[in-house]
Amino acid sequence: MRIDLQDPAGASLATVGWVGDAATGVLRMIDQTLLPNKFVEIDCADVPTVWEAIKSLRVRGAPAIGIAAAFGAVIGARTGLAEGRIGVETALQSASKFLGTSRPTAVNLFWALDRMERFGASIAPGLNPAETLDLLLAEANRIAAEDRAMCRAIGRHGAELVEPGQGILTHCNAGGLATADYGTALAVIYTAHEQGKAPRVFADETRPLLQGARLTAWELQRRGVPVTLICDSMAAQVMKEGKVGMVVVGADRIAANGDTANKIGTYGVALLAKAHGLPFYVAAPSSTFDLTLPDGSGIPIEQRDPSEITRGFGLATAPDGIDVYNPAFDVTPAELIDGIITERGVIRPVTTATIREVLST
Ligand code: MRU
Repeated sequence: MRIDLQDPAGASLATVGWVGDAATGVLRMIDQTLLPNKFVEIDCADVPTVWEAIKSLRVRGAPAIGIAAAFGAVIGARTGLAEGRIGVETALQSASKFLGTSRPTAVNLFWALDRMERFGASIAPGLNPAETLDLLLAEANRIAAEDRAMCRAIGRHGAELVEPGQGILTHCNAGGLATADYGTALAVIYTAHEQGKAPRVFADETRPLLQGARLTAWELQRRGVPVTLICDSMAAQVMKEGKVGMVVVGADRIAANGDTANKIGTYGVALLAKAHGLPFYVAAPSSTFDLTLPDGSGIPIEQRDPSEITRGFGLATAPDGIDVYNPAFDVTPAELIDGIITERGVIRPVTTATIREVLST
């Protein structure tokens, strides 16, 4: 089902969520591929539709991908209802396996699927299939609710780092459209804005899929936060002119030592911040840390279709047959990161020891 809506300007966004009961409900999400031209919600009622929505970036941003996958796992588990309690668990596991093939970099996807599987396995074997499904939906809803609380806490911790009237540069979209609430990097900005600190945002457009222009600029503008859109190649000049005092970005996966994968171009922004003496912050919930990886060299980087560069949004922007390299993410080394803003506090300096310490609180 596709629902065309008027953009409820200024209202909080329901980026991704569940509508209805466990047996007949659907996963509803804003189709972000259509923003800012159209505000459309789509309903996903089967696992391949959820997979496609994640793969094609209808829902995107690490926390939102995890939440969509958790609800997708419920949809998958439902297909096993007729085969009883074991059928539900088997269907949950196979949906989880399949959804895990949609995108490789954001660890929140695997974190959420793993949590759903472990929760499914912990449900008493004697419980009937319908009640089992209800519990699974409750767990997916908990993941979404926890994400909302994490966004608020990240916003509170991060806003303390913002000076009144400060220019803040951000890359990609780590806002309401990437989470269940109002974001990670953008939560810092929204909270500072609410506190009257009057931050002024510079949003990198974020080639090739323009999440900064299409999504970050859109959501900041509709919430009344002053934002200036720049091409990615303008960041150095904006810094040199003294227009920004700090950088804050989101993350898709953070290794045990703090090396951080985020949207392609983030690493370059971190180098520019260092060259201009500006603090560079990453804002992310604990579900974005992957402590199984000692450093960023093991983070899988998604490679995307060349047509995103050669035919972005349908227009030919390069000659046919040209060779293209299109990694969707890069890894910023921990030494370029001044602090990681989590729901548990700001990790600073960023080291394996400080990360362990804050995450274990
Ligand atoms: O390819 P995308 O749009 O899913 O990439 C998103 C990002 O890189 C975000 O910065 C990251 O997921 C953090 S979202 C809170």
